[in-house]
Formats: sequence, structure tokens, C-alpha cells
Amino acid sequence: WPAFADDIAAILELKQKHNAVILAHNYQTPEIFHCVADITGDSLALARKAQEVEADIMVMAGVAFMAETSKLLNPSKTVLLPSAEAGCSLAESITAADVRLMRQRYPGVPVVTYVNTSAAVKAESDICCTSGNARQVIESLGVDEVIMIPDEFLAQNVANETGVKVITWKGHCEVHERFTPQEIRDWRKAYPDLVVLAHPECPPEVVAEADFAGSTAGMSDFVASGKAARVLLVTECSMSDNLAALHPDVELIRPCNLCPHMKRITLGSIRKALKNMEVKVEVEADVADRARLAIERMLAV
Ligand code: 13P
Ligand code: SF4
Repeated sequence: WPAFADDIAAILELKQKHNAVILAHNYQTPEIFHCVADITGDSLALARKAQEVEADIMVMAGVAFMAETSKLLNPSKTVLLPSAEAGCSLAESITAADVRLMRQRYPGVPVVTYVNTSAAVKAESDICCTSGNARQVIESLGVDEVIMIPDEFLAQNVANETGVKVITWKGHCEVHERFTPQEIRDWRKAYPDLVVLAHPECPPEVVAEADFAGSTAGMSDFVASGKAARVLLVTECSMSDNLAALHPDVELIRPCNLCPHMKRITLGSIRKALKNMEVKVEVEADVADRARLAIERMLAV
């Protein structure tokens, strides 16, 4: 911690000076999550809370699609993303032109788009979803079939839960696609009392081995509930570090898969972002209006 003290003190001062708040996703490292963030949560919570921010500046300690969503939902604020390179393998897997082609191929089928996408892709969609509300969003449509993009595994997992047929895209999260069912069986052999929590971006055969599947907030709530003394978190491993600090009574087993995009955000890059007011996130007006509609439809569910 002494190594972080200088950056932490500078960031706290800069936040005050510029009337800024820091939003941090659950995958940020503990020195960001616990020491400088004002608002923390999963993608859904960050979107909801971004809408209500009154400060002049929001710094997104997360990835580009989260910063864009904050800008869309609270457009009069300045939104800073400390690293322009904090992307996402899912967001990069699909373009607006791809969505238009899917619509041509499956006319009349509603397009449900995961928030892990660019604003341009959201703008071509009927409604967005996150891992925390995918089931409710799909069920709210009252149809037998949806186009659900771009996360193939999330779509398959939701189809298994709801019985709604999904037309998928071959996008994957580069962190969650690496987990295997065998790995979970091996951990269970080592710890017979283990409770396994998995993110729905994992392949369906991995989710099938888990005791619970949910968004990062869903998994955090499960750990906080005290229902289990020993938990395997099948997700990005900074979240386990953050939860370990909050719940010393729970033993967290953490296979360590890190998201290289989330890890581009550091105390140093946050300090620089606040000092130089960079990188400002902007969304082109025409795209912004249509993308906002898809997000607002989701928030209304
Ligand atoms: P949550 O919405 O569950 O926080 O996860 C999304 C994700 O993978 C962020 O990268
Ligand atoms: Fe994207 Fe996966 Fe990283 Fe989340 S963890 S930002 S879904 S690559």
C-alpha cells in the first residue's frame, strides 16, 4: 500500500479540485476499487448510477463500452476513460454493419444486444441487456425467438434458462471462454464443500457445473449473504481480491484469469486522466440518440 499512497492522495485531491467522481467496475484492482472509487458495481449498476451523477466529471475505471454508456445516459457530463485502449473482446467482435445484415437475414426478429458493445452496435438494436438482467429482458419481449448478440455463450445460457430460441453471434469474452468444466470438477475434488459461482459469459458446459450463475453483482451478493464458507469464483480474479477484503470469513478460491483491458486502468492512468482531462468520451449525436433508446428500454424493464 505505501507504493500506492502518493497516487491515491493525488487522485483524491484532483477529484475535489475538478468536482469529479470515479466509477469502478467490480474487476478493477483493490487499490482502485477500495481506495479511490466513489461508485462501484456491475455493468447494470454502473449504468443506473451514472444516470444520477451530479458531479461535473465521471472517470470510468472500466472499459470503453461502460464509459460510452455513462456518456449516453448523462450526456451533459464530461466522461473520461483513463486508457483509450481499454476495450473488450466482445465489443470488438461485431460492427453495426453486421447487425444490419442479421436483420436482413432474420426479418422481424427482435435484436437484443449485450451492453458489451459499441454505441454504433447498440444504435442498430431494439433493446440492450446486461448479464444481470438478460433473462428479464428476453422474457419481457414475449416472443419465441430473438437475435441475441454478440456473446454466444450468454445467449445460450439465457436460452437454457428461458426456453426462448436464440440466434447467436460468435463473440466470446476472452477471460470467461478459458474456463473448462474439468477445471471445476478438479477444484471440487480438492474441496468437497466448495460452492461454485460462475459468470454467464462462461461456456454453457461450465455454467452447468456451477451452483449459481450470475452477473458480477449477483456473485458478490451471494458471497456477502454468508451462505457459503468456501467459494470458487469462475470469473475475472480481481473481483475475488475485492471480495476477500470485504469478507475475510469466506475463503475465496480464485483461478486467476485477468482481463487485459480492465487492467489497462491503473492508479497512474486515473491520476493522469484527471490531471490532463483525457481521454474524453464522445458519441456522435445520431448514433447516441438511437443507442440511448436501446439502453433506456432495458432500464425500463
Ligand atoms: P457484469 O455486468 O456482470 O459486471 O460483467 C460484465 C463484464 O464482463 C464486464 O466486463
Ligand atoms: Fe470484455 Fe471479458 Fe474483459 Fe469483460 S472481462 S471487459 S467481457 S474481455
